[in-house]
Amino acid sequence: MSYIDLSNINNALIVGAGHGIGLAFCEEILKLNPQIAMHATYRREEKANKLFDLKKSFSNLSIYQVNPVNEAEVINLKTKSKIQKINLLINCIGTLQDDTVSPERSLREIDISKLQHYFLINSSITPLLAKHFKDCFRGKHSSCFAAISAKVGSIDDNSLGGWYGYRASKAALNMFIINISIEFKRSAPNSVVLAIHPGTTITELSEDFIQNTNLKLHKPNQTAENILNIIKNKDPKQTGQFVSWDQSNITW
Ligand SMILES: NC(=O)c1ccc[n+]([C@@H]2O[C@H](COP(=O)([O-])OP(=O)(O)OC[C@H]3O[C@@H](n4cnc5c(N)ncnc54)[C@H](OP(=O)(O)O)[C@@H]3O)[C@@H](O)[C@H]2O)c1
Repeated sequence: MSYIDLSNINNALIVGAGHGIGLAFCEEILKLNPQIAMHATYRREEKANKLFDLKKSFSNLSIYQVNPVNEAEVINLKTKSKIQKINLLINCIGTLQDDTVSPERSLREIDISKLQHYFLINSSITPLLAKHFKDCFRGKHSSCFAAISAKVGSIDDNSLGGWYGYRASKAALNMFIINISIEFKRSAPNSVVLAIHPGTTITELSEDFIQNTNLKLHKPNQTAENILNIIKNKDPKQTGQFVSWDQSNITW
């Protein structure tokens, strides 16, 4: 029996759902639970066409343009969504390469402002969401708070080096997840807080890095399905874990 019955939960909030894995979560959750009160955020309008199309088919999907690095926008999201008790919140925001950063190959490429950007986007948003949505987890209902991390953020698993900012910012995210899980245990004893490695997934984030990879490649909807299967089978005793798409635990 699943701990969180995703086909029956009342609501879910996917942060960073304009495309990629976040969008796939919205699609897969709505397939499982067409009546759910589904909330989803995007930042760049020009990339969110598929989310806008999904909204046309589901009147129960509410979408919000939010840039969660701005705390006022997170507060506004909380107010506008009117969520009181939440069952599922997944933060899918992350960057590997953008106009500001590209993954460092060596110490020569270390740059303070670029490191700050990695930490801002990949680490800080999750505790900010936890801060403002914590009261929606309060009580005895079953719930899950998750962030999409990355296996390369595992300190134990790092044998290749490189990608300083991305690796370190995901390792910091993992520490935030442990902390959040400890704090949530007190007020939300039936919550499960997880850092999840999605597996290598064909998205905008990975497209420049997967041409010659030997890693198994997943489509975003396969990834979302894999992760939802993990979430539904976790119980509160397993809170504060770093889990891989294939259900294995990753060492920190
Ligand atoms: N794809 C993979 O193989 C892989 C592997 C390991 C971990 N991950 C993790 O999976 C998560 C989802 O990534 P994805 O693969 O689905 O990539 P994606 O399609 O590129 O999605 C990235 C998300 O992050 C948001 N984002 C990026 N830069 C941002 C910024 N500066 N400020 C605010 N939001 C920003 C994007 O929002 P907008 O586009 O709306 O701005 C989008 O919602 C990320 O945390 C990533 O690190 C992915």
